[in-house]
Amino acid sequence: MSIDYDLFPDNNFNERTLHNQLTVGTGWLLHVDEKLAGYTLCSGVGTPLVDILRLGVREPYRQVGIGTVLLRVVLDLGVDVMLSVRKGNDPAINLYLKHGFEIAGTMPQHYSWVMRRPARKTSS
Ligand SMILES: CC(C)(COP(=O)(O)OP(=O)(O)OC[C@H]1O[C@@H](n2cnc3c(N)ncnc32)[C@H](O)[C@@H]1OP(=O)(O)O)[C@@H](O)C(=O)NCCC(=O)NCCS
Repeated sequence: MSIDYDLFPDNNFNERTLHNQLTVGTGWLLHVDEKLAGYTLCSGVGTPLVDILRLGVREPYRQVGIGTVLLRVVLDLGVDVMLSVRKGNDPAINLYLKHGFEIAGTMPQHYSWVMRRPARKTSS
């Protein structure tokens, strides 16, 4: 899936990992004019804690609300949601803070925040 390479060139999923994620996880694709504009991949759908593995929007489609739409699809599952996000990725951190996520810790290598949002929060 080239959108994964385009948006996460430093740590894109290889074909096998992507296949596994899509097999055991859940994904949503958002198209604009039949073009793939954004996507999210999650694990844990159907459990009390969903992990957002990927959430991305291609550059020409950013800042018009597509990231919000994708995030709301996950939040509307009505369960706790967690994710990790690179420190300094302000667009993503702002998006998550705006929707009730809080910093819950750091990943072992300290490059990323772990953020979590309890199910009880209401989206703004
Ligand atoms: C993060 C990302 C998904 C946001 O998608 P988007 O469609 O542009 O987001 P939206 O238009 O829905 O914006 C919602 C909120 O996100 C935040 N935001 C989005 N772009 C921003 C930017 N360039 N600078 C600061 N905050 C930003 C704002 O809080 C914004 O709310 P506002 O419009 O009221 O200010 C997108 O920038 C992206 O794909 N980035 C590359 C991949 C990535 O880093 N994904 C996150 C991995 S954890």
